[in-house]
Amino acid sequence: MDELIEAAREVQGRAHVPYSDYTVGAALRTADGSVYVGCNIENANYSNSLHAEEVAVAEAVKEGHREFDALAVSSGARDGVTPCGMCRQTLAEFCDDDLPVVCDEGDDRTEYTLGQLLPNTITEEMLE
Ligand code: THU
Ligand code: ZN
Repeated sequence: MDELIEAAREVQGRAHVPYSDYTVGAALRTADGSVYVGCNIENANYSNSLHAEEVAVAEAVKEGHREFDALAVSSGARDGVTPCGMCRQTLAEFCDDDLPVVCDEGDDRTEYTLGQLLPNTITEEMLE
């Protein structure tokens, strides 16, 4: 898990955050062990900023990955930032409830499952 947190920290260096100055990095490990990362990319209209987790999911999915086994999230503040509601739903599209979500607190970390962060999720099956 250290490696995943390190990847989430590192990608923050490429965040585009002229408005909030709050960098976020996410690192998503696929079932076959590769790691895809994303950072937040803000926009002058304020509302359509890309979140780090969304970018990481997009990077992985566009390379053909659909199965994931862990996510690490880190902010420059090392404040244990968790994925926002929108990102939780984006993750739930591809990940099971038991996906570990590791949130960086500097020397410490808190680990949740996706199911803890987003219980009773709407899923594809419900739309059948
Ligand atoms: N942010 C993320 O990248 N992921 C989240 O789920 C929480 C929020 C970003 C968006 C914005 O660039 C900054 O953090 C402050 O909200
Ligand atoms: Zn988000």
